[in-house]
Amino acid sequence: MTTNHSQRTRVLTGITTTGTPHLGNYVGAIRPTVQASRNPTTQGFYFLADYHALIKCDDPARIQRSTLEIAASWIAAGLDPDGVMFYRQSDIPEIPELTWFLTCVTGKGMLNRAHAYKASVDKNNLAGNDPDADVTAGLFMYPVLMGADILMFKAHKVPVGRDQIQHIEMARDMASSFNHLYGEHLVLPEAVIEESVALLPGLDGRKMSKSYDNTIPLFSSSAQLKKLISGIVTDSRAPGEAKDTEGSALFQIYQAFASAEETASLAKAYADGIGWGDAKQMLFERIDREVAPMRAKYEELINNPATVDAILLKGAAKARELATPFIKELRHAVGLRSLASAASSQGHAKTARAASPAFKQYREQDGQFYFKLVDPQGRVLLQSLGFGSPKDAGMAIAQLQQDDAKALAALGAQVTFGEGVSAALVAEALATLRAELAEKAKAKS
Ligand code: TRP
Repeated sequence: MTTNHSQRTRVLTGITTTGTPHLGNYVGAIRPTVQASRNPTTQGFYFLADYHALIKCDDPARIQRSTLEIAASWIAAGLDPDGVMFYRQSDIPEIPELTWFLTCVTGKGMLNRAHAYKASVDKNNLAGNDPDADVTAGLFMYPVLMGADILMFKAHKVPVGRDQIQHIEMARDMASSFNHLYGEHLVLPEAVIEESVALLPGLDGRKMSKSYDNTIPLFSSSAQLKKLISGIVTDSRAPGEAKDTEGSALFQIYQAFASAEETASLAKAYADGIGWGDAKQMLFERIDREVAPMRAKYEELINNPATVDAILLKGAAKARELATPFIKELRHAVGLRSLASAASSQGHAKTARAASPAFKQYREQDGQFYFKLVDPQGRVLLQSLGFGSPKDAGMAIAQLQQDDAKALAALGAQVTFGEGVSAALVAEALATLRAELAEKAKAKS
């Protein structure tokens, strides 16, 4: 029977392990993701994309350090590794295996059109070089590896930056191609673009980014944070002169941390001519107030890398409980299977659908637990209202399976027939189920 666990919306995103988390990463990715991870109607998959890091970085120490720093930052910022799937990509050997399966159904022409690859080619052409000069096959294959990350865990939603939308579209394309050839195994993901998330300016006023060398690390000492903040660009207006909030990097960074009231009072201080030194002190205090409690946890983790390793390995074991059986299913689907097993489906076959009715249990946005009875074609025969717990829903199902007439009377308005469905149809479906259960019980004993 389907459990409500597998019915939750699966949200998945990866973080490439090449850098040290900065305030821009915190405001734009870590903080909103940690918040979203607490939503009980979703199941979060957050992973360190260290295979992807190899495409951009050939410094082993950097990769290792960054993996530790990013993992420690996410946990220090409140991600609960036990409440979500939190793992390191390279601990999941099923991902590179799926990458190969996808590679074999992905058109080379599609990869030729990937933005990152095309940008390298354009640059080479402009410089009069060979179009593929200094382009690794890793860069070319980047979207396929990313597709495997996503499709491995049947993710529904993938929160990413705008620059990644094309990759999600490619993952959908790969999933469709695979499903077309081998049956409905892969789930088509959707990109989620967080419009409301702040884009943080850096020290020089441009977008905070490692490539501009204008970042403020999320975790540095208080003293260092203060020093870096003192380096944020401002104009030359003296204390006493009114200042513009518009275009002020300092103001924008403050806003990303402060409440609406705090922001309004800084705006007033700007109008009243606050000196830049005082404004920077306010910004420092506001950020430090948010970061200080996390800093202690971060330091503890950074100084105990074995603890972080253990957390990631535990996460990988949990993730592999899903990945290992799924890759087995996929291996079988493509024909990598026991030679003794019956040679079913010569390709282009849809997976056989169970030819019997089934109960499906799931949880809705309202937090309640529901079930429905569907026929082999997926038509809804019975639909329940919400139950307070999965146990209550399960008990109702058990009653229906035992004695449908009695159970239907007892459940009253809690269940309704599907559109155009007669009581006789429901009774027949339940009788089929009952017969099957009896058969299974007999086979067991
Ligand atoms: N390519 C993503 C980035 O650079 C990181 C990433 C790797 C990712 N695999 C992923 C993001 C899977 C979402 C889903 O930001």
